[in-house]
Amino acid sequence: MTAARRFPDGFVWGAATAAYQVEGATDADGRGPSIWDTFARTPGAVLGGHTGDLGTDHYRRFADDVALMADLGLRAYRFSVAWPRVQPTGRGPANQAGLDFYRRLADTLLAHGIDPVVTLYHWDLPQPLEDAGGWPARDTAWRFADYAGLVAGALGDRVPLWTTLNEPWCTAYLGYASGEHAPGVQDPARALAAVHTLNLAHGLGARAVRAAAGDAAQVSITLNLQVNRAASAAPADVAAKARLDRVANEVFLGPLLDGAYPEEVVAETAHLTDWSFVRDGDLDLVRTRLDALGVNYYTTALVAGVPDAAGPVPDPGGETGPADVQAASPAGDERPPANLVTGVRWLHQPGPRTAMGWVVDPSGLTELLLDLHRRRPDLPLWITENGAAYPDAVADDGRVHDADRIAYLHGHLDAVGAALDAGADVRGYLAWSLMDNFEWAYGYERRFGIVHVDYATLERTVKDSGHWYRRLATTGVLPA
Ligand code: NOJ
Repeated sequence: MTAARRFPDGFVWGAATAAYQVEGATDADGRGPSIWDTFARTPGAVLGGHTGDLGTDHYRRFADDVALMADLGLRAYRFSVAWPRVQPTGRGPANQAGLDFYRRLADTLLAHGIDPVVTLYHWDLPQPLEDAGGWPARDTAWRFADYAGLVAGALGDRVPLWTTLNEPWCTAYLGYASGEHAPGVQDPARALAAVHTLNLAHGLGARAVRAAAGDAAQVSITLNLQVNRAASAAPADVAAKARLDRVANEVFLGPLLDGAYPEEVVAETAHLTDWSFVRDGDLDLVRTRLDALGVNYYTTALVAGVPDAAGPVPDPGGETGPADVQAASPAGDERPPANLVTGVRWLHQPGPRTAMGWVVDPSGLTELLLDLHRRRPDLPLWITENGAAYPDAVADDGRVHDADRIAYLHGHLDAVGAALDAGADVRGYLAWSLMDNFEWAYGYERRFGIVHVDYATLERTVKDSGHWYRRLATTGVLPA
């Protein structure tokens, strides 16, 4: 039993969503097509053939949703701007109707005392930019900077915290290596090129935000850093973990914080690409002042080396290993595609799992926050996402009794508290998600919300976890 915890005064409690997952209205007010519109229409790409066409109808119901947030005691709402609403083709002048929607949303939030935390890119690339090469193409970084400048020009006076990119790991590796996400490409060399363009886009986009919104604008990036643990102290296991950390985490943290890619990762992926997409001067563009780092955290991984893995092996993802290895946790969004990482096996971890199959392991969050704090003590950290999917239903009493989610949130907030006690500078916690929504390749079949959405009526019902979160947000006290 843990003791009750009081969070620091000023600690920000909020919740998060993303445009394509909730907005719907994909044809409204001049919005252009995005890669997710295209991908969701590809047979077999999304469970149940679901699309974001309706989402949770947040585009039309945002005012009611903001009132609900206020009722839940939230002080921050992290949402993303849909690039194809602002630039329907990904380039050129702003579509005023698109910007106006986000201005209305921001104003409504501020009127309720809720700070808008804006993510500029949460995976909905305008389709014409994909047709022109997508994230593997360098030009996309400059297109992103133009777009970021337009949004910051329109919302700069209303937004206290900007996030350039959400989980570039997913954009690059799920989008261009495994193909589980839009645009569904399976080409690891292009995925690595995408990593670099995304890093460039962050650097150029951050500068564009400051140019348009003023140098005082607070700019961050949100990463899904993976907490990988070696199965043993054996050199092969330790080396496997290190390789994985490099390709999953350091390809982002290295350029962003230190202005360099880890040399080993270039050698380790030499069979895929020569990294000639990194040009002189690029790393100076990537590294720019970072006012905060957004941390999205869901689970941990336990990894081991593959014996005799001197070079690339055909299927290093664990699926060809012995039986105990076969039972490894499902890929979810935490395992780099097999065509990208060599010599690593994912081992089964005991313990409860969410509906995504992800093992529930709050200790990894404390570990991650403290690692980041030690590395950059001056860098404020935000939990920009944390939460869990469970198969919720509205019970006969009209409520949603999601005790599993309360336990998940409780454990992870206790883990945040432990990191705070140990000195980590964590400023806020944004639950994923405010409401059930379109969970990418899983469609509407996975529910992450603290508010339930009935997809037949679009009715919102605050789950037990939402009521629990309200008490936390309004008192700042995590019960024992
Ligand atoms: C991270 C992503 O940013 C978000 O869009 C997604 O729904 C959650 N993980 C849950 O998978």
